[in-house]
Amino acid sequence: MPDARCRRSNCLVHPPEIKLFNSVEDLINAIERQGWSTQPGYLPDADSRRLQQDCEQGCDQGAFKRAGVGRGKGLEVREEIRSDQILWLRPEDATAGQTVYLEKLETLRLALNRSLYLGLQDFDGHFAMYPKGAFYKPHLDRHTGTSERVITVILYLNPDWQPGDGGELKLWTTSGAKTGALEIIEPRLGTLVCFLAGEFWHEVLPAHKTRMSITGWFRSH
Ligand code: OGA
Ligand code: MN
Repeated sequence: MPDARCRRSNCLVHPPEIKLFNSVEDLINAIERQGWSTQPGYLPDADSRRLQQDCEQGCDQGAFKRAGVGRGKGLEVREEIRSDQILWLRPEDATAGQTVYLEKLETLRLALNRSLYLGLQDFDGHFAMYPKGAFYKPHLDRHTGTSERVITVILYLNPDWQPGDGGELKLWTTSGAKTGALEIIEPRLGTLVCFLAGEFWHEVLPAHKTRMSITGWFRSH
């Protein structure tokens, strides 16, 4: 006899097309109400796994670079602040898996603009790989004096993530404050997290196993 969770993930209760539709609606409602949203199972496992394979392949080929903090001339590697490695997505040579995800984000961007008038113009994102021991200290995603990054969008790519693997996202859920209520988000395959980039403080707790994701931003210019 399968348990309730198996029945849900086999989609006997909610057919997949209804679930996908609902997750966009839920996400938009949550952004409007509280400025952030977590959507487990946002992307079907097969699609997430293709992205995970692209990420692993990029690592194997040595295409990742140590991530920096700041921007433009002020960009510098500061391993005491963040110790992940990144590889920017290039839509012009996206793989089939990346195209599926980017198209889904485009639908989401248009839906956010229609419902919340956010004026989001494009998406810019990168794979991120946190080797064992890597972290990203508390920060906001908007660079000082800029307003391009409006919404942060993170998709996790860790198929067998378990408590003890570390690398959770710690999100302070009071806009503008690094105190008060917290969400601890597990970086499980297919979970999508969004939040207002300039308002929500967040941190990546130390990874105890390699941790993979795609992080990006809906931007306005
Ligand atoms: C970032 C970031 C969070 C995460 O790359 O700016 O905060 O959970 N990532 O990967
Ligand atoms: Mn961040």
